Amino acid sequence: MSKAKIVILTGAGISAESGVATFRDPDGVWAKYDLQDVATPQGFARDPVKVQDFYNMRRRQMGSVEPNAAHAALAKLEQKFPGDVLVVTQNIDDLHERAGSRKLIHMHGELGHALCLSCGQSSAWADDIAAHSACPACGAKGQLRPDVVWFGEMPYRMEEIGEALTRCDLFVAIGTSGNVYPAAGFVEEARAAGAVTAELNLKCAGWASRFDEQMEGPATQVVPAFVERVLSGAG
Ligand code: APR
Repeated sequence: MSKAKIVILTGAGISAESGVATFRDPDGVWAKYDLQDVATPQGFARDPVKVQDFYNMRRRQMGSVEPNAAHAALAKLEQKFPGDVLVVTQNIDDLHERAGSRKLIHMHGELGHALCLSCGQSSAWADDIAAHSACPACGAKGQLRPDVVWFGEMPYRMEEIGEALTRCDLFVAIGTSGNVYPAAGFVEEARAAGAVTAELNLKCAGWASRFDEQMEGPATQVVPAFVERVLSGAG
């Protein structure tokens, strides 16, 4: 197990206990907002102010949330595990990196970045995006959108992710409902490559049968326990 390669897919559930709402739980984001309005290129074309307000609100929220024990446990795994650990997150919050994760891919983009429709550059961005905001790279005004991957758009760094899945020995999905592709198909790619697969979730449902193992419970409890198990097995 010492030189093994681990790929960890995380979803909104890992940040739930930090106070960041999930999407499909009864009190989730999509119970309050229509994803067609705020998470599609068509919605942005129809009403850019509504979309900017939505992501500005979520970006501001980052100032009042902290990484939790599950984020910290994954950062520890990356530091202590003798093999490779890659975290692929669907989350656009910055809690993984604030917990210390470095080998990290934001496949759905980041709240803390703005994308310029004029020059195509993605720039670090901490404040609200306004109609007159200027691109830090090219200076164009009013051309910025949240650097978030919307429905119907191609997620980021898919080639790298695909590579890692074909070489991994252990694939773990944490706090994701498995409703959104291509992320929901990663477990099959990993299995096809011979990886052992595990799901960690508050309630292992729906796609649970596609995993060799399930661990049920809040992420702040099951993730640290799982990490200790992996590290003790890595001795
Ligand atoms: N600990 C562990 N898991 C949890 C917790 C918790 N405290 N709270 C909720 N969960 C689980 C739920 O059981 C559910 O399976 O987290 C999952 C959240 O699922 P979704 O809300 O569907 O979020 P996610 O799977 O990340 O969504 C995928 O869909 O809306 C788009 O782009 C958005 O990246 C997102 C993608």
